[in-house]
Amino acid sequence: MQRIPEKIHELTVGQLSARSGAAVSALHFYESKGLIHSRRTPGNQRRFSRDTLRRVAFIRAAQRVGIPLATIRAALAELPEERTPTRDDWAHLSETWRSELDERIRQLNRLRDHLTDCIGCGCLSLDSCVLSNPDDVAGERRAGSRLMTENGGQTEAH
Ligand code: FES
Repeated sequence: MQRIPEKIHELTVGQLSARSGAAVSALHFYESKGLIHSRRTPGNQRRFSRDTLRRVAFIRAAQRVGIPLATIRAALAELPEERTPTRDDWAHLSETWRSELDERIRQLNRLRDHLTDCIGCGCLSLDSCVLSNPDDVAGERRAGSRLMTENGGQTEAH
């Protein structure tokens, strides 16, 4: 990984990409979503303050555990004057996000177990495939025959 000399206080997008490991396109995307900010040089080139490195590390770490960008942006926006997250900020937020991650793992485990039933099947039946109809919407809305539509018309048997 490319080292950036301490005396350099601003980074080009290429330097930020090389040092952070994030693709230039990802950095542009983060900027378009307001997660990172740059200033423009007189030649219209982006320059990022050095602390953007930490900000990008924060964003990527949160993304790795599946935190949606909107949630990350909200967390960053809550920091006073949109400062770069400190070690304490990360400790606090990662603790908050842990329960979300636990819940997501539980859901994925359930999906994996259901997928096991589907492997080699291929029916995608709305009646019996839990992945095809996870909430069994039709079954919950009305008991009895699923061959009738809600307005009483006939529907195709599956
Ligand atoms: S594909 Fe047949 S049970 Fe899911």
